Amino acid sequence: MAVRPVRTLLPALALLAACRSPAPAPPAVRYGQHVFAGGAAPAGVTLENPYRGDRASAAQGETIFGAMNCDGCHGGGAAGWVGPSLADGRWRFGGSDGAIFQSIYYGRPHGMPAYGGLLLSSDAVWKLVTYLQSLAPPADLPTEAWDTSAR
Ligand code: HEC
Repeated sequence: MAVRPVRTLLPALALLAACRSPAPAPPAVRYGQHVFAGGAAPAGVTLENPYRGDRASAAQGETIFGAMNCDGCHGGGAAGWVGPSLADGRWRFGGSDGAIFQSIYYGRPHGMPAYGGLLLSSDAVWKLVTYLQSLAPPADLPTEAWDTSAR
């Protein structure tokens, strides 16, 4: 990640500090890749976005999205770049409140860093989730064309 000048970093840190809450890390949610001893999975919890639909939180989430360089991988407006679009209504890891939260807090296997804990509080992650949920998918979504002739 490129080192940003202190001038641009300071307001970002102040914002993140404001978002920091003393709340502990949320309980982990069970997911498909887990292997459960004896085949018995512990009961999972359903995480709900406390800011769902709140415009001010979405706006703060947008600021954090830029300050944390999410747009460096996911593109401006989260429309997709080297990382997938987060604005097309399609979710590889699920689009529920909890699934998006997990993606950001704990990261995902192929290149999505985990931001939870040290870098972002649960509160700040929920604001990012609120921002992403506020993005309306474009009316005309591109679809991938698979070239089967090469097989
Ligand atoms: C270094 C590049 C990089 C940065 C920085 C990054 N991401 Fe990602 N992100 C990815 C990649 C690549 C994936 C897809 C991972 C996979 O398929 O396993 C991903 C996946 C995701 C997903 C899951 C998407 C889905 O379809 O389920 C979310 C949500 C997400 N990122 C949000 C964010 C947010 C918010 C930030 C900033 C705090 C961020 N990302 C920063 C590369 C990045």
